[in-house]
Amino acid sequence: ELGAYDHYMLKEIYDQPRALAATFHACDNLLRDDSCFGDGAAAIFDRVNNVQIAACGTSYHAGMVARYWLEELAGIACEVEVASEFRYRKRVQHEGTLLLTISQSGETADTLAALRNAGEHEFVGTMVIANVDNSSLVRESDLVFLTRAGAEIGVASTKAFTTQLVALLMLTIALGRRRGMSPEKQQEVINALQRLPDFVEETLELDTNIQQLSEAFIPKHHALFLGRGIQYPIAMEGSLKLKEISYIHAEAYPAGELKHGPLALVDDDMPVVAVAPGDELLEKLKSNLEEVRSRGGELFVFADRAAGFSSEPRVKVLNMPHCPEVIKPIVYTVALQLLSYHVAVQKGTDVDKPRNLAKSVTVE
Ligand code: F6R
Repeated sequence: ELGAYDHYMLKEIYDQPRALAATFHACDNLLRDDSCFGDGAAAIFDRVNNVQIAACGTSYHAGMVARYWLEELAGIACEVEVASEFRYRKRVQHEGTLLLTISQSGETADTLAALRNAGEHEFVGTMVIANVDNSSLVRESDLVFLTRAGAEIGVASTKAFTTQLVALLMLTIALGRRRGMSPEKQQEVINALQRLPDFVEETLELDTNIQQLSEAFIPKHHALFLGRGIQYPIAMEGSLKLKEISYIHAEAYPAGELKHGPLALVDDDMPVVAVAPGDELLEKLKSNLEEVRSRGGELFVFADRAAGFSSEPRVKVLNMPHCPEVIKPIVYTVALQLLSYHVAVQKGTDVDKPRNLAKSVTVE
């Protein structure tokens, strides 16, 4: 089953161009038709004013990315919360809210509890984005979108996450269409989704370069991931992957928070990964690092190759494919997956079955 790959995780990372295309093709005509989101989707979507997302772990990160898309492109207010908090908290519920759960397995106990508690509030409907058909969340939600990732065996979620993002971007179009998202803008997003598998392919071709970068992380005990805006949740996902499979302590911060505390940690034991910083941000990060240069801080930058950044002492740049902004979170995720994978392999951890973790968390 593994074929030419050493681990399921690597196989699943490389399966992403196929999985993303298959997920995108689940909908025939996003500009007009909502039927791919389940029977009755149109009637529910017509009434949606807000989206409340509940999910865990990597699926929660997908929800965080979706918040940027829904608010910016679709003009729909969106809140995102980890399901284990959401389920127990006394909340104030806005009218016209769609409860959206996101779950690869469709069986995560906290996410399922979030759905089952939904009855206590007035939702216009419940929807799940899941990868496993006939799972509990799928059976119990009003609307269902199944990602086409195929079976994911590695415990660390890779293709399930990126296909969730495709589903969420398609949902953004379906809801945005009702809220004045222009047909041109809708088409632009569709075009970007169409080209997404090619950009992911191009990113996979950077594998050797990423492996080279990864070597610096092997002796480290800590790492910081920085992102801004929609790339902040991607920094979170990058840091989760690294801690999960390589057992290196990693934390993610919005880039602007660096100087409000974590900068104090930066020394030669603390590599800093910056995800897709623009020009201005990179300059700021560099000057931040300048302050700690004498202490050995090192910056790893994953940036659009069109931005023209080049490596210099203590700043290593990985030139990423030049792709539309809207799909950058998906494309950059793939590079961060490869980074963690290579660190873990070189550290000799059990990549597909990291210690203490289970693929499906069906207990609290
Ligand atoms: C991390 C990972 C977990 C899951 C989380 C939720 O790589 O896989 O954080 O994302 O346990 O699982 P699902 O998506 O099945 O609800």
